[in-house]
Amino acid sequence: MKYFYVVFAISCSLLLITNTYAYQYDLVEPIDKPSVENYETKELSFLTFGNQTKVAKAMTKWSGQYNSNFVLSVGDDEGVSSVYDAKWDKVWKNAYKGRLSKIPWYIVAGNHDWYGNITAQIDYSLNYDSRYFFPSTYFVRESYFGPNKTKVAWIHIDTNIFYYDFATREETEHLGLKYNFEKFGWQSLKAIEDKFKWIEDRLNNRAQNGFSLSVGHQPLIGKYAQTFQMGRLRPLFEKYRVAAYFSGHEHVLELETSKIGQSVTYFISGACSKAHGKCEGFDWGMPVGALGFLHTIISKDEMYYEFVESSTLEPKMVYQGKVLPI
Ligand SMILES: *[C@@H]1O[C@H](CO)[C@@H](O)[C@H](O)[C@H]1NC(C)=O
Ligand SMILES: *[C@@H]1O[C@H](CO)[C@@H](O)[C@H](O)[C@H]1NC(C)=O
Ligand SMILES: *[C@@H]1O[C@H](CO)[C@@H](O)[C@H](O)[C@H]1NC(C)=O
Repeated sequence: MKYFYVVFAISCSLLLITNTYAYQYDLVEPIDKPSVENYETKELSFLTFGNQTKVAKAMTKWSGQYNSNFVLSVGDDEGVSSVYDAKWDKVWKNAYKGRLSKIPWYIVAGNHDWYGNITAQIDYSLNYDSRYFFPSTYFVRESYFGPNKTKVAWIHIDTNIFYYDFATREETEHLGLKYNFEKFGWQSLKAIEDKFKWIEDRLNNRAQNGFSLSVGHQPLIGKYAQTFQMGRLRPLFEKYRVAAYFSGHEHVLELETSKIGQSVTYFISGACSKAHGKCEGFDWGMPVGALGFLHTIISKDEMYYEFVESSTLEPKMVYQGKVLPI
């Protein structure tokens, strides 16, 4: 009995302590329980892109033609100040028409989202429009499709904490990232370790068959894969046989295919508002200056992908390939 009271008292005080910060802190912290999606379609079609609106027309056309199930938004939605920010309509609701205005958008946060009010983006998803699916900065999903309920497992992660060294990077200081990280207690090595542990636990918990996919903002190709703590993500994804990692950030369309002994195919699809530079170490990349997005179709036993060039009014497929489940 005594033991019970002690435990009870400790739990109560813990509740009190955490409650002080509960609202904002809870919103950004990882969610363990997967959200489950059921699609009636025979295959799973989705478009992946970073920022944004210039290729909206081409994406509308493509998503209509393929009856796409959802959009993967790899971040940099410009950053909003609140749930009432006029940007919601300007860069999202009114910017995408047709099928893109009906299907869910699955989000990860980019650095520009962190410059704004990240909590407002989560609040918007939870309380205003769940089609903008962003229940937290880290979450897991399970998609089921086709007559046999084929499963695809997803992990959405926030890579900003692994990419910006809060001690040295200018970005963290000038643009509000540091302030926002501090607000949530994300400026410590412990916070970083906690996030890695969460990712590893989720990957470890997944079913062994079917596609296992991950989504984050900063790429894992070339120098991006080496920055600050990013270098630890590739071995983790390889260890747990993730089939593909989708990212944005760099305004290019690039690909690193899986090699012998490497399970993961790495995608960058961020060439939607501008296209410049390149990151070394890729196997294929769209010519500098071109705009476009990535379209993927998962069927029972393969994942087909195509990069779609949409600099002109006539979007066209310029590169395609396949990934097999592990
Ligand atoms: C940020 O968004 C949250 C959640 O909607 C809100 O409670 C908070 O007031 C916003 N912060 C500012 C500075 O507007
Ligand atoms: C569904 O499963 C059955 C039984 O294993 C199999 O015969 C059939 O080909 C599968 N269909 C699809 C579309 O996967
Ligand atoms: C996103 O796209 C908009 C519209 O094309 C542009 O004004 C903005 O600078 C872009 N943001 C980033 C982070 O590239």
